[in-house]
Amino acid sequence: MIHLSPRLAAVAALVPPGARVIDVGTDHAMLPVWLVQAGICPFALATDIRPGPLENAAALVEKTGTGDRIRLLLADGLAGVEPDGWDTVVLAGLGGETMVSILAAAPWVQDRARLILEPQSKRAVLRRYLIENGWRIDRELLAEDAGHIYPILTAAAGQPPAYSEVELHLGLLSQIESDPLFLAYLDRRKRQAVKAAPYDPAAAALLGEYGKLKRRLIHADSR
Ligand SMILES: C[S@@+](CC[C@H](N)C(=O)[O-])C[C@H]1O[C@@H](n2cnc3c(N)ncnc32)[C@H](O)[C@@H]1O
Repeated sequence: MIHLSPRLAAVAALVPPGARVIDVGTDHAMLPVWLVQAGICPFALATDIRPGPLENAAALVEKTGTGDRIRLLLADGLAGVEPDGWDTVVLAGLGGETMVSILAAAPWVQDRARLILEPQSKRAVLRRYLIENGWRIDRELLAEDAGHIYPILTAAAGQPPAYSEVELHLGLLSQIESDPLFLAYLDRRKRQAVKAAPYDPAAAALLGEYGKLKRRLIHADSR
C-alpha cells in the first residue's frame, strides 16, 4: 500500500466504501491509487489539466499495478467526462475559485454525485457558491499536516441552512466548532485578518467577529 499524507488521508477517510470516484486535479494520483489498493473504490477516474502531473500519475498507476481500476484523463476539470456511473467527486489541493469554475461547468454532477472538497484558498467563495447553487454542505472538518491546518468539507444536493459571513469563511459553526483543531484554526485566520485589516474593511469586520467567537468558545470551555 502507498502511504498518504495526513491531509490526503483525511480526504480518503470521507470516501464511502464502494464509491466510484472522480479525482479532479489528481497530480500524482496518490488518492485514487490508495483508494483502489485499500479496496474502498472498485474503480476511479483521475483527471488533471496538465500533461506533466498526468505522467506522474501514470507512473504511479503502473508501479502499483492499479491500471485495471484507474483511468487517467487529461482534462480541464470534468470536461469530457462521461457523467454516468460516478457517485463521488473529489477536488483536493485546488483553489476555491478553480473548484467553483469546475463545478459550474459540470452541472450534471449535482444529480449524480457527492462532493469531497479540500480547498486551498477562497473557501468563503466556494461555500457561497455551493449554498447559492443547490448544494448542502453536510460535513466540515479540519486536518493537520506539516504545520498547516486544512479545512475539508463534503456536500450533496440539498437545501442549505443560512450562513453568517463568519460561517462562509470558517464553515457552519454547528459543524466545525467542536473540531479539536478549531481553536488553532481560528487563531490562524485571526492572524491573517490582523495583517489585512488596516487596508481591508471586510477583514477588519471579520477580525472583530473572530475575536467574539474565540471569547465565546473559551468562556464555554471554562464553565
Ligand atoms: C496541488 S495539486 C493537488 C494534487 C492532489 N489532488 C492533492 O490534493 O494532493 C493540484 C493539481 O490540480 C491540477 N489542476 C489545476 N487546475 C485544474 C483543472 N482546472 N482541472 C484539472 N486539474 C487541474 C494541477 O495541474 C495540479 O496537478
